[in-house]
Amino acid sequence: MSSLQHLLDKNRSWAQEVQQARPDFFPTLARQQQPDYLWIGCADSRVPANQIVGLLPGELFVHRNVANLVVHTDLNCLSVLQFAVEVLKVEHVIVCGHYGCGGVAAAMGDQELGLIDSWLRHIRDIRAQYLKELAEIPDKDKRVNRLCELNVIEQARNVCCTNIVQKAWRRGQPLQVHGWIYGIQDGLINDLGLNVSRQEDLHEAYRIAVAPFGQA
Ligand code: CO
Repeated sequence: MSSLQHLLDKNRSWAQEVQQARPDFFPTLARQQQPDYLWIGCADSRVPANQIVGLLPGELFVHRNVANLVVHTDLNCLSVLQFAVEVLKVEHVIVCGHYGCGGVAAAMGDQELGLIDSWLRHIRDIRAQYLKELAEIPDKDKRVNRLCELNVIEQARNVCCTNIVQKAWRRGQPLQVHGWIYGIQDGLINDLGLNVSRQEDLHEAYRIAVAPFGQA
């Protein structure tokens, strides 16, 4: 017997409950998926994408990695984005980070951690970009949380700057990019104010979103 039998058992009872409540649920999903949203989030186990926005299987296309990064050479993330935009025609791309992100906290320090340093380098570059603002926050947790916010905004901007999104906007496809952050401590999502649906709006939306509180 598998040492993961308890999970297989949970799966059986879940499938049975869904099937009883909605007999057409699985057959409908088996034919196609039609999600309206692409979620790009952190791999953290405390931030389960579907659950925190109350969406069912089939309603949210998901990509997750350490610290919700959108790196311009990451074929994995870009392939997800291309499929979501060009084939599924999602209308929203949500980059959702979370406060207290371990990846961001690690990037705040300079300790060598091995392979993941190359990944965290992208966040360390953002830290360098906002060094002065971050240095003015005396509390370490608050400093990490501000970098969590800035990281989301930068990654959402990266989404906007991909040729996938740029081409979609040029052909007039409805597509909005959002930057959100989730609070593990209260289960609530904050909209960071970067909601962009056209190239012309990107620069100003980004400028306002990254401005320190009250300085936009
Ligand atoms: Co995280």
